[in-house]
Amino acid sequence: MAGWLRKQDVNLSPNRQSKYIFGNWKMSQSFEAMRSFFADSTRQNVDPGLEMAIFPSFTHLGEARKLVGPQKVYAIGAQDCSDEKNGAFTGEVSAQSLKELGVCLCLVGHSERRQRANETPQSLSKKLAVLQECGILPVFCIGESRAERESGRVDEILSSQLEVLKTYRGQLILAYEPVWAIGTGLTASASQIQETHAYILKQLGGPWPLLYGGSVKLENAQEILGIEGVHGLLIGGASLKVNVFEKICGFALESLNR
Ligand code: PGA
Repeated sequence: MAGWLRKQDVNLSPNRQSKYIFGNWKMSQSFEAMRSFFADSTRQNVDPGLEMAIFPSFTHLGEARKLVGPQKVYAIGAQDCSDEKNGAFTGEVSAQSLKELGVCLCLVGHSERRQRANETPQSLSKKLAVLQECGILPVFCIGESRAERESGRVDEILSSQLEVLKTYRGQLILAYEPVWAIGTGLTASASQIQETHAYILKQLGGPWPLLYGGSVKLENAQEILGIEGVHGLLIGGASLKVNVFEKICGFALESLNR
């Protein structure tokens, strides 16, 4: 575990025995709403085996870190980082500055970044390297589009997205997020999730956990958490309201204690 952060933070060493409930706030949470989220949080303790994290936008990270307070019940993650270490890259945010803000996780290759920023495998690979160097744990996201699923190419697409990890030697968390399920209200069925997770876990070396994401909500979170090969959830829309998010965290805790 040498070099990985959170030594002074919550103990986040990725493994498949813990449950990870991560909230990706995208560009959807105002400062005020973020303050209310933490003010209304009812989770006071770090529960062994349950890792909760929030991924606010860059501008909110410093404040989020302060709002989490000394208990550090929530870890703070970033939604992206530059693939460069430092230098003349106007508008980009380095892994090092994220680290200085107390960020301990960072999404890499979220489908919204892959699409909008035309991320290439080379750039994703460089991001993994700069994060590893800074001691930030990457949450590497993969997933197929609707057309790719309909044409029976899911395994091929996921394998090619996983190629980037072949040269990466650090720790990581993986998230399977079918693009057609993100923000659409469509969730993959339990059998689709189980099958796809089994496929990914077979491809993936190491003890790394695999989260599911894509229209997770209060109504389906418990079922998804019960699927074999699901070690947690990456939640967009349903992570914005603290009562919903923390109920889902409660489901994760129950599933750990079962
Ligand atoms: P969603 O987003 O839960 O709103 O579908 C998930 C994600 O993009 O991580």
